[in-house]
Amino acid sequence: MKTIYSAIQPSGELTIGNFLGTLKGWKDFQDEYKCLFGVADMHAITVRQNPQLLRERTKKLLAIYLATGLDPDKSIIYVNSHVKQHAELGWVLHTYTNLGQLNRMHQFKSKIKDNEERANVGLYCYPVLMASDILLYDTDFVPVGDDQKQHVEITRDIAERFNSIYGDTFTIPEPLINKSGSRIKSLQDPTVKMSKSDPNPNAFILLLEEYNVMKKKISRAVTDSIGEINYSEDQPGIMNLLDIYKACNNEDMDTIFAKFEGQNYGYLKREVTEALETTIGPVREKTKDYLNNEDYLLEVAKKGSEKASEIAEKTLAKVYDKIGFLRSI
Ligand code: TRP
Repeated sequence: MKTIYSAIQPSGELTIGNFLGTLKGWKDFQDEYKCLFGVADMHAITVRQNPQLLRERTKKLLAIYLATGLDPDKSIIYVNSHVKQHAELGWVLHTYTNLGQLNRMHQFKSKIKDNEERANVGLYCYPVLMASDILLYDTDFVPVGDDQKQHVEITRDIAERFNSIYGDTFTIPEPLINKSGSRIKSLQDPTVKMSKSDPNPNAFILLLEEYNVMKKKISRAVTDSIGEINYSEDQPGIMNLLDIYKACNNEDMDTIFAKFEGQNYGYLKREVTEALETTIGPVREKTKDYLNNEDYLLEVAKKGSEKASEIAEKTLAKVYDKIGFLRSI
């Protein structure tokens, strides 16, 4: 069985874009692959976090994972900081990473843009920690959004560099990029990506948003004065609504067109609202249930970290041997 690894940072609320683009598809991997899903709290601290909030969001993300159908009996669901090998392998991998390559990372550049004081060394070296997450588990595939592709590429380079010096050690991972959800745009300016940090809350919908709020936001979504439903670059607002609809229903565009042909924008918005509610409503409700059962969440995280540590320790021991660290007795 091939291995899948992915993670999300508990650094903020998830939008429907994050969910439809990445998380929604994870549960379907569970029968065919050995899966590990991490809550990347160690990545989250590369930007200053409020400690209480970080803890709450870590639990919330675990609850969301379970609510979307990730099953702790099938997959390893855990919190990255519970598995100390991430930091340990991370340190080793730093010494196999070129400065020049880190200098080219888009995400680092965009995160420090207009905000140089945020540029701590952890943020800069973040892709190395991500490489450690992935390489600890002999990962074959990494399902991520488009924005993480470069980080998987650097992971491959680090692994190849290590393997070329010490012989076959790490599995070389491949990214699995889901384009559809990452295309979801702001409801207020459909030329930019939907983002939870948009100053206008009408621009985004959160995964856990209540139905009435979500409905209102969609009804206020920017459209155009053309008045016809087409999937066209000239109508980015309509295109975005159709993309959301499609990501919820997984119908092909022909079926979708047949449904909306000749209809007005009000109809489209109502249908998008209902499709979205059918998709995210159950996740919202189940997340609440899991959050009410903190003991269970902590139990899942504990079991997950035990299973993850066992695999991670084997990889780390192999690496320590190869690089010449003396084993203690
Ligand atoms: N960097 C990813 C993000 O911000 C989260 C992440 C951390 C991750 N470690 C990972 C994703 C390992 C895939 C594999 O979205």
